[in-house]
Amino acid sequence: MTAYITTPIYYVNAMPHLGHAYTTIVADTYARFKRLCGDEVRFQTGTDEHGEKIVQAAEKEGVSPGEYVDRISAAFRDTWPGLSIEPDNTIRTTDPDHIRVVQTLLQQVYDQDDIYFSEYSGHYCQGCERFLTEKELVDGKCPDHQTVPKEISEQNYFFRMSKYQDWLIEHIQSNPEYITPERYRNEVLSFLSEPLEDLCISRPTSRLTWGIPLPFDGNFVTYVWFDALINYVSGLGWPDGDEYKKFWPVAEHVIAKDILKPHAIFWPTMLKAMGLPAYQRLHVHGYWNVDETKMSKSIGNVVRPGELVEAYGVDTVRYFLLREMSFGLDSSFSTEAIVARQNSDLANDLGNLFSRSLTMVAKYAGGVVPPPEKDGLTDQDLEVIAAVEAMFERYRQAMENFSFHQGLQAVWEVIGLLNRYIVTNAPWELARDEANTARLNTVLYFLVEGLRVLALVLRPVMPVASDKMAQALGLQNEMASATLETAGRWGVLEPGTTVDKGPQLFPRLDKKKKKQPQQQKKQAKKKSKQEAASVDMEGMITFEEFGKVELRVAEIVAAEKIKKADKLLKLSLKAPEDRTVVAGIAKFYSPEELVGKKVLIVANLKPAKLMGVTSQGMVLAAKEKDADGNERLVLSTVDGDIAPGSRVA
Ligand code: MSP
Repeated sequence: MTAYITTPIYYVNAMPHLGHAYTTIVADTYARFKRLCGDEVRFQTGTDEHGEKIVQAAEKEGVSPGEYVDRISAAFRDTWPGLSIEPDNTIRTTDPDHIRVVQTLLQQVYDQDDIYFSEYSGHYCQGCERFLTEKELVDGKCPDHQTVPKEISEQNYFFRMSKYQDWLIEHIQSNPEYITPERYRNEVLSFLSEPLEDLCISRPTSRLTWGIPLPFDGNFVTYVWFDALINYVSGLGWPDGDEYKKFWPVAEHVIAKDILKPHAIFWPTMLKAMGLPAYQRLHVHGYWNVDETKMSKSIGNVVRPGELVEAYGVDTVRYFLLREMSFGLDSSFSTEAIVARQNSDLANDLGNLFSRSLTMVAKYAGGVVPPPEKDGLTDQDLEVIAAVEAMFERYRQAMENFSFHQGLQAVWEVIGLLNRYIVTNAPWELARDEANTARLNTVLYFLVEGLRVLALVLRPVMPVASDKMAQALGLQNEMASATLETAGRWGVLEPGTTVDKGPQLFPRLDKKKKKQPQQQKKQAKKKSKQEAASVDMEGMITFEEFGKVELRVAEIVAAEKIKKADKLLKLSLKAPEDRTVVAGIAKFYSPEELVGKKVLIVANLKPAKLMGVTSQGMVLAAKEKDADGNERLVLSTVDGDIAPGSRVA
């Protein structure tokens, strides 16, 4: 099987930021996932270097456009290795090969009379580099750039896009996977329910010279989108390149919602007119905001990928971005959120599992993976095997569908289960009595095999951490060539393998000491000054203090009364691991009505014994007094469908 994944080619009028990094990490992760599936993969990114705003940016810096685009495109290329992003091709629209392909295709479409010359006047948004329709304007402004478009009236060349409207509607309707998530497919179909205008594809050289000349009229250069979109085929060596033949039939594009229209409408109709097959899938994601605010140079909150990597390390950055954003929806970046993910998911859950397991193999088995018992696996062992197998299935599907956060959630459920497996099997106690050696061996084998499975599925997301894990497990060579087919099941690890304790995978971050990215630092300073000035601090806690309380969503899977305790109920919860919590709500809820409810719990309370039952946490409830002064408790539940175990921020 083959796979071809692309990112947008980025404008070189700005330096790479968090948004560019996210899209490119998504594409890289998908490329690595497809390789893990055994596919032959091509991953392409690049830079979009023509157009008015590039010329203006160069003028501002007092350099020629050529010099300017060389410098900024290099900055993009140099950003990727630091993020463990490894494209197979980095295209530039100023590459002579690309220019040749654009001109050949323009000539072909012109010759078949799908390009004509005409007069046009309209609202041109320079930020979008396209004319906006009346309907797209909000209060006379471009909603994305908040600027009033220029009224432009001039003679230009037009592509007969309207001719392909019916074909496009039919194509989208009969291919439900063509544009996903569905909300964007619906948005496109809704736009297509109105008549489509033809597309202006040129600029007179009197206004713009920094573009590709039209092969049939030297007084014009081609419009940025007609130039830029073609990168997806020129980068494969269209028309004769082997790459083109191999990879175009499986093309998938990743973009954010800002450039949906060019990709979902202009590009498919262009391809149709050029006689090229449609791409297979368009994956559309939302925006990263920063502290709930739009990221913008003027606000001064632009997050630079290099600073993030310096502060948190590449694996944390990749993990955070993929875990935090539900693909398709907007998400907000904050220092607090990334630190919380590092401390809880990475240092606590994964890092601890890794170091505890390997320390125990070193201590109790001399650093050599012991054989598991052939017979006599316990229910807990079988639960681990079943959970790992189910995880592989969920992971594969989620990654295939760009639901990276769900894929990672599935992996973290296994991490939680293995951490509990350590506690319930207490290898340190088994080690006290030689009669338990066989059982101890099984437990240790299960832990190391669990780590192998985790290193495998985390490979696309956190290549560096996965390598470190593989190395500690003595599996670096195997892992480099492993696929889900060959290694994606339970029991692949050979007993007898030597493992070492490995490095610390993720340090816990002390937020106070942690170096913050420059912009964030400035903002945080400003914010805390404002806060100090405007509120009475008495009785308040700091963010750090609050951060110590781990709140999670828990699903009640069973509830029962506790004998001789008329106020208490014993609740069995999934959060995401199984745990028991005793709650004083028996007077207000019957056990039956509780099952299935999703409630909020304090997940890191020290366990306490109540009426003989160990309670691992506390369920949150609101307290009120009625008119007679009687107290009533109402459980706090969550609004909407959310996975058990989700952190409450
Ligand atoms: N040059 C065009 C694309 C041509 S593709 C044939 C362009 N360039 S861009 O530099 O503006 O990049 C836009 C893309 O950058 C978005 O579609 C998205 O992939 C990424 N992002 C830019 N800002 C972003 C956020 N704030 N959040 C998420 N992604 C963002 O448009």
